[in-house]
Amino acid sequence: MVGETLATKFVSMGHKVKMGSRTANNEKATAWASKNGGLASHGTFADAAIFGEIVFNCTSGQVSLEALQLAGRENLQGKILVDVANPLDFSKGMPPSLTVCNTDSLGEVIQRQFIDVKVVKTLNTMNCLLMTNPGALKDPGNVFICGNDDSAKAEVESLLRSFGWEKIIDLGDISAARGTEQLLPVWVRLMGKLGTAMFNFSIVQ
Ligand SMILES: NC(=O)c1ccc[n+]([C@@H]2O[C@H](COP(=O)([O-])OP(=O)(O)OC[C@H]3O[C@@H](n4cnc5c(N)ncnc54)[C@H](OP(=O)(O)O)[C@@H]3O)[C@@H](O)[C@H]2O)c1
Repeated sequence: MVGETLATKFVSMGHKVKMGSRTANNEKATAWASKNGGLASHGTFADAAIFGEIVFNCTSGQVSLEALQLAGRENLQGKILVDVANPLDFSKGMPPSLTVCNTDSLGEVIQRQFIDVKVVKTLNTMNCLLMTNPGALKDPGNVFICGNDDSAKAEVESLLRSFGWEKIIDLGDISAARGTEQLLPVWVRLMGKLGTAMFNFSIVQ
């Protein structure tokens, strides 16, 4: 869902996008590519990692490391990896718990395992329809960003601005992913309470 939403938005903005999956002939990826014209293509995770100047991790948090290993360390080396995933565990039903939290986070685990990759964590604290369309809310609220590499964050910030995001808060290095990932239990509760996924966190001072 997230991968398709982001990929469709990027194609609509004139970017070339390759959707990766475990197999080269994934049914959903094939359907997405054939529906989205010449800028859209699909392949394996490795094909996508080779193709992308910027790579997005939109896999389930519990399998993100597996997917990134399939993408290939050598194919990701030196690139920006935008991590949108959350380490949610639904195995005991709702509400989900986090598989990693408090003194660590998925963003940090990925950064530690892929030290040559510039991991930037962002957009994980909102529904995907809002990620690419902040104008859907009268007051879109804030989007958080964190990561160890300032120039990588600046590049991702400009992508966020191209979606229409204005209130971007840089929380610092990748360890700030602990905080943004831990917002998810609150986010899930709020969705139940509000009866919609179209809301966001807004910081007031
Ligand atoms: N949904 C949202 O609005 C939203 C918002 C913020 C953050 N997120 C986070 O973004 C991520 C994606 O969410 P989503 O809603 O798009 O989930 P989704 O629709 O279930 O997509 C998950 C993706 O992970 C892949 N996958 C599953 N098992 C895998 C494995 N063992 N190895 C490699 N890939 C595997 C799936 O591939 P197949 O299709 O081939 O099974 C699918 O492409 C999650 O981490 C979620 O927490 C979601």
